[in-house]
Amino acid sequence: MPPDLSRYLSDRTLIMLSNREPYEHRRVEGAGDGGVEVRQPPGGLVSALDPTMRATQGVWVAWGSGTADEQTADAEGRLRVPPDSREYTLRRVFLDDAEVDGYYLGFANSSLWPLCHLLVQHFVYRVEYWERYRQVNEKFARAVADEVTRAEKKPVVWIQDYHFGLTAEMVRSYCDPILIHQFWHIPFPPADILRLLPASVDDALLRGMLGNDLVEFHTERYALNFLGCVAEFIPDADIDADSLTVHYEGRQIQVASFPISIDVEHYERLATSSDSTALAKRLRKRYAAGACKLGLGVDRVDYTKGIPERLRALKQLWELHPEMRETFTFLLVATPSRSEIPAYRALEEDMVRLVLEINARFRTRHWTPIVLIHENVSAEMLAGVYRAADLCLVSSLQDGMNLVAKEFVACQVDEQGVLVLSRLTGAAEEIDGAVLINPFNIDGFVEGIRRAIDMSDGERRVRMHRMRKQLHERTIYDWLAAILSRTESIIANRTQETSTT
Ligand code: ADP
Ligand code: F6P
Repeated sequence: MPPDLSRYLSDRTLIMLSNREPYEHRRVEGAGDGGVEVRQPPGGLVSALDPTMRATQGVWVAWGSGTADEQTADAEGRLRVPPDSREYTLRRVFLDDAEVDGYYLGFANSSLWPLCHLLVQHFVYRVEYWERYRQVNEKFARAVADEVTRAEKKPVVWIQDYHFGLTAEMVRSYCDPILIHQFWHIPFPPADILRLLPASVDDALLRGMLGNDLVEFHTERYALNFLGCVAEFIPDADIDADSLTVHYEGRQIQVASFPISIDVEHYERLATSSDSTALAKRLRKRYAAGACKLGLGVDRVDYTKGIPERLRALKQLWELHPEMRETFTFLLVATPSRSEIPAYRALEEDMVRLVLEINARFRTRHWTPIVLIHENVSAEMLAGVYRAADLCLVSSLQDGMNLVAKEFVACQVDEQGVLVLSRLTGAAEEIDGAVLINPFNIDGFVEGIRRAIDMSDGERRVRMHRMRKQLHERTIYDWLAAILSRTESIIANRTQETSTT
């Protein structure tokens, strides 16, 4: 049962801002409904926050990225979503090509994304990226400020992620919500990495984030990195390291960690639905009959996910252990992502080339080692695939949390699967029961996969049972309740301070 959130929300309008929208309308030739199709874009943020918004019924401001988004919203870009139950308002902000190039593909995903994930070989900086980022942050800040002035109850602004490093400070200067806070969904880098940006840029970024009353990260490590950067680059900010508080421009900014999660019961329901159960049965019959085992990877094709590293480890496994040929099949469900960025296109090509190469090397008359499903699949289908797998390989080189790991555990209702998890994910700091691997150490990775394949039924069950219990204790609703409880205590303390002065 989700915890009751109404006590935090009865008096508030939650205005949430993220780059990615929860529902995207696209023109698709031949689709029903006037040639328009609606889909939920893949990514951890949307998966986690749609249930949040359905529970809080506020307004979600986001980029209207779909080809039919304008025609399906009103003149101000507003519509009610989800399409079938209309529980909250989505306000779309539209961007032109130059804005998408500079802000989204440029500064957010070619400069900040690789820096935050410590993969500096992919870091690209251009002045025009930064200028667009600043201009687009302003555009979104104005839309948020407009929603603040429309709010019927006391407005709280909640900003999501690295696309909006400057927005909090801007919103604060345009309007007066009772609280502004921001969740940073990816790792935050140490000062030595942030320093790769021009000094004026990291200064503006950190001051922008200090426009919040509370800044949230997945893990304490990322929170401490953020404080380290503030200490290094913002000389007029005072840091209290014990209470993770920054004193800046006469305000107090709290910094804290709140590991994100998923709607566990929803995934369990999906995994036990008749369609998913039938799919899981079909997959097991085809790939995991008798003593055969089925491995799984589910990814946005992103260089942070360690996909080539995983494929190389699989290649080495079948090379060194011929007995695993024909007895272990790997299913890779990979959705293309950010394909306009050269590094992502190169990765797509690399992935497909490696799969073909491995299949050509080991294929037999009756067996193909890697089955690639190269598309965005429905949540129902994912649930069936998660349920069917004997092991799931999450091999991120660096990952804020990684929700695929949690989705796999939630869908393992038969408790027979093993999670092989990169120690470089936020999830590895939280979940106890996975086989941990380091994707940079190929021999250790191969050993981890082998251990998972050979693990006894008893040990699988004990580990998976433990992880499922932990997951049930920390769902997306517990995450939300912890954040809302913290924001309410900040508001209450502030009210108390004003009434006693
Ligand atoms: P990130 O936030 O970097 O995208 P996460 O692992 O936290 O990474 O979240 C990825 C989300 O995208 C998960 O909810 C997962 O189910 C979804 N996803 C990943 N690959 C696919 C795919 N091929 N089809 C549909 N959804 C996918
Ligand atoms: O979780 C990190 C994140 O960048 C989200 O903000 C985003 O929605 C997801 O990954 C997928 O990326 P994109 O929105 O660029 O497709």
